[in-house]
Amino acid sequence: MKVGDRHYRSIWLSSDGWAVEIIDQIHLPHALIVARLENLGDAAVAIETMQVRGAPLIGATAAYGLALAARNDPSDLALGGAYDTLLATRPTAVNLRWALDDVMGIVHQLPPERRAEAAYRRAAEICDEDVAINDAIGEHGFTLIRDAWQAKGQTGRVNVLTHCNAGWLATVDWGTALAPIYKAFNAGIPIHVWADETRPRNQGASLTAWELSQHGVPHAVIVDNAGGHLMQHGMVDLCITGTDRTTATGDVCNKIGTYLKALAAKDNGVPFYVALPSPTIDWTLRDGVREIPIEEREASEVTRIAGRAEDGRILSVDLTPMASPAANFAFDVTPARLVTALITERGVCDPSEGGLQALYPERASSGSS
Ligand code: MRU
Repeated sequence: MKVGDRHYRSIWLSSDGWAVEIIDQIHLPHALIVARLENLGDAAVAIETMQVRGAPLIGATAAYGLALAARNDPSDLALGGAYDTLLATRPTAVNLRWALDDVMGIVHQLPPERRAEAAYRRAAEICDEDVAINDAIGEHGFTLIRDAWQAKGQTGRVNVLTHCNAGWLATVDWGTALAPIYKAFNAGIPIHVWADETRPRNQGASLTAWELSQHGVPHAVIVDNAGGHLMQHGMVDLCITGTDRTTATGDVCNKIGTYLKALAAKDNGVPFYVALPSPTIDWTLRDGVREIPIEEREASEVTRIAGRAEDGRILSVDLTPMASPAANFAFDVTPARLVTALITERGVCDPSEGGLQALYPERASSGSS
């Protein structure tokens, strides 16, 4: 997607042909800073500290992390260690394990001297595949927004609520939940986005709002607790969120607070859609609430907040009494019964085992990852 006149992806290979460059998301929306990853440690830190984040982008970065590791030492021992290091960076998004297994499956069959090149090639393919997947999700999701617009008699605007950031910054390009929104906007449908701020890290307020601003999509940032009120007053036509891990039965795990939005949507008859690329499906799991590991992050993300002061300095300040502990659960699970439909690269389906298997019949008999 574009920033000003320039097209960006969220991750790309440097012009030197080996280092990896990313948009460092820690500095957004206040500064667009490109960071350079030169080795396994850089890639692991980028994922862990959320310089890159969002399930698909975490997977793409991990794939390049293995390529950087193989460039340094392509032995079985070193690559096994690199795999473990990268896998430990973030526990919830299954794209991480998917991408690591994919690259490792290829390089393990090769002699050490050919591994780095093969890992770089596969990492680049994973990035290109992600863009194509999200483009297709955008097309399928677009039809839902167009239908909502037609159902309103093509009057007013279509109001879409989204949570966290599932836009191009969370993927390699396009985004998952935001891809249909960009397609609808590009097609001339008058669309307006309610962007949940998404405490504690504020991915909605800082990243989704920035992306939408760059593309010119009308939007407003709302506090996390506003969605229910808006839905009660007919101010939300549909919700679209992303997911970090989807079970074979259609339960979705996404940024903390997604579940509460789904409950409010159900109570108010507002369609609740979840956009997902197939690498986000964990075919080994059936019960999202019990089986999906939920990341717990540092309490300081809750007790402190950073922002730009009037003089331009970026400041971090305390929000809570120094003596108060905090808990920071990063994700929650929305059971399939609260989801209206899943938007995948192969089409829109029922959030159920049957719905997913109808689109991915090759998974129907295996039931494995
Ligand atoms: O903690 P984050 O910022 O990595 O969480 C991201 C999300 O929850 C996204 O909604 C999810 O990864 C889907 S991204 C296409």
